[in-house]
Amino acid sequence: MKKIPTLLITGANGQLGRCFQNLAEQYPQWHFLFVDSRGLDVTDRRSVFAFFEKNAPAWCLNCAAYTAVDKAESEPARARRVNVAGAKNIAEACALHGVPLVHFSTDYVYHGRQNTPLREDTPVRPKSVYARTKLAGDRAVLRYHPLLGMVIRTSWLYAPDGHNFARTMHRLGAERPALNVVYDQVGTPTYAPDLAEAVLHIIQKIEQGELPRTAVAGLWHYSNEGVCSWYDFAQAIVDILALPCRVNAIETKDYPLPAPRPPYSVLNKSKIKAAFGLDIPHWRRGVERWCRAAENK
Ligand SMILES: NC(=O)c1ccc[n+]([C@@H]2O[C@H](COP(=O)([O-])OP(=O)(O)OC[C@H]3O[C@@H](n4cnc5c(N)ncnc54)[C@H](OP(=O)(O)O)[C@@H]3O)[C@@H](O)[C@H]2O)c1
Repeated sequence: MKKIPTLLITGANGQLGRCFQNLAEQYPQWHFLFVDSRGLDVTDRRSVFAFFEKNAPAWCLNCAAYTAVDKAESEPARARRVNVAGAKNIAEACALHGVPLVHFSTDYVYHGRQNTPLREDTPVRPKSVYARTKLAGDRAVLRYHPLLGMVIRTSWLYAPDGHNFARTMHRLGAERPALNVVYDQVGTPTYAPDLAEAVLHIIQKIEQGELPRTAVAGLWHYSNEGVCSWYDFAQAIVDILALPCRVNAIETKDYPLPAPRPPYSVLNKSKIKAAFGLDIPHWRRGVERWCRAAENK
């Protein structure tokens, strides 16, 4: 009898991890193994190797990360432990056991002057501790697991659960008469359930034998379609939820933060769409779904 493949999801209580939890019942052909940082600390190398030995996953989706972008500036060692050492531990354990790894990363690694959508070969220019540690983690995955390591860089991730920009705008937009939001940073929001669905779609294609497992190897971009500023993103939330709040467009220089944000981080998704036949929804569809979920809470 064929063994049911186990999909291991690390960092499973984060925004993206929970999206996989919400989708799991739609994939009864797989066994999902969700572990949070207490169940598996990715920085603990021995535990990671012992965990893989014991549980023999068929796939690993590494959602574990240090994501406190501004706090990372004052605790770089902690960010490095999770984003670099943690990613390397997972990549090496996956390589040892021949397990395909899907690792997630960020648009923050790009911080150039380019204003056309960024391809996977766009030169990187990380400008914050978070961005530098994420880039080093990406490189560790690609170096230590070159045959089956998939690094997906995404942007402006937000989910129905967890702390994110959409939730902050919803809360503040209901409390305040006006919000100031930057309009000179341009990118694309990514509704985390769309990213999670895309990943499971890719795994399904491979498990059904339509593509070899090695098809996942390398660097990939995924975000929703379209382009907007943070101001447009906030305005969409205020409009859809009919919040009694005015959104003012301000410049980045008037909203200083410890970690610099990339001014332009629209990702070119041609590679992932062509390779896996993905049909990516527009970012507004994601915001509408997020708002419906928020209204029903
Ligand atoms: N959020 C964004 O805007 C954004 C944008 C682009 C890319 N990304 C990337 O997308 C991925 C998912 O992001 P997310 O928003 O889902 O992050 P998140 O909500 O912060 O979740 C990350 C999870 O990692 C866990 N974690 C932290 N240290 C760990 C450790 N040592 N061992 C195991 N788990 C650990 C955390 O658990 P504890 O809370 O228990 O520590 C948390 O549940 C990350 O790689 C992130 O860099 C995010």
